[in-house]
Amino acid sequence: MTVPILRNLNELRAKHASWVRAGESVAVVPTMGALHAGHLSLVEAACIDCDRVVVTIFVNPRQFNNAADLANYPRTEHQDAEKLAGLDVDVIYVPDGSQIYPDGYATNVSVSGVSDVLEGEFRAGHFDGVATVVAKLFLQTGAHRAYFGQKDFQQLMVVKRMARDLDIPIEVIGCPTVREPSGLAMSSRNLRLSAEGLDRAAGLYPVMQQVAARLAGGEGFGPLADEARSKLEALGFADIEYFDLRCEDRLQLLQTPTRPGRLLVAAWMDGIRLIDNIEVPVLND
Ligand code: PAF
Repeated sequence: MTVPILRNLNELRAKHASWVRAGESVAVVPTMGALHAGHLSLVEAACIDCDRVVVTIFVNPRQFNNAADLANYPRTEHQDAEKLAGLDVDVIYVPDGSQIYPDGYATNVSVSGVSDVLEGEFRAGHFDGVATVVAKLFLQTGAHRAYFGQKDFQQLMVVKRMARDLDIPIEVIGCPTVREPSGLAMSSRNLRLSAEGLDRAAGLYPVMQQVAARLAGGEGFGPLADEARSKLEALGFADIEYFDLRCEDRLQLLQTPTRPGRLLVAAWMDGIRLIDNIEVPVLND
């Protein structure tokens, strides 16, 4: 069934009011479009949990720190709507820029701490852009629950902190990363890799898994990270921006996973910046 596309906040608010009057729960799945199976898994989770599901599609200029990256970001609204038609989605909200950043817009949402490391070091201003647009989408949709992929683990932490700090009454839910059969984490950016780049990028996940297994066996992270970086370079990754072990909640560096931790990586393949992360088992003393 075709899903109605709303482009205007007033229309969205009218829908939301009728749902709330009927006592229905509302989910939001914020996206920038170019939907793949990872996004669809978020939508499926939202459909199971909530009576009404809003998928938002907005390529948010404020979170791009590179004009070429923004210009090249895939825009596939028609195909996205077709993919969502197979699911139990109530509304696709595709605001134009003026619905999000009207003339005179002057407010920035900035989450310190978790935003400052990893992506924050390499993509200045990125998380301010994310936190700002997500705060707006939470408030515009009035959703009770929001669904994000763990693929962007730091984003998930930033959004959780922002919602808590601003008392936005929404539950932020992180869903597992969906991977290609090759192990490559699904991402809209994969569309820009050549067939050979896709093959080589698939080597990242096994390298991360080996490091996680060896950490669980008691090896220290330093030498494992050096070895992993060499393996990634041999696969053709250039500019490994970070290959870090960090605690899950505050994203502080760890040497051994004595508390819940994540291995987080950003590296370039064929001129495309890829990120991935996996959970690391906690090591008991
Ligand atoms: O993960 C994304 O696609 C974006 O960062 C989000 C959360 C939709 C905000 O623009």
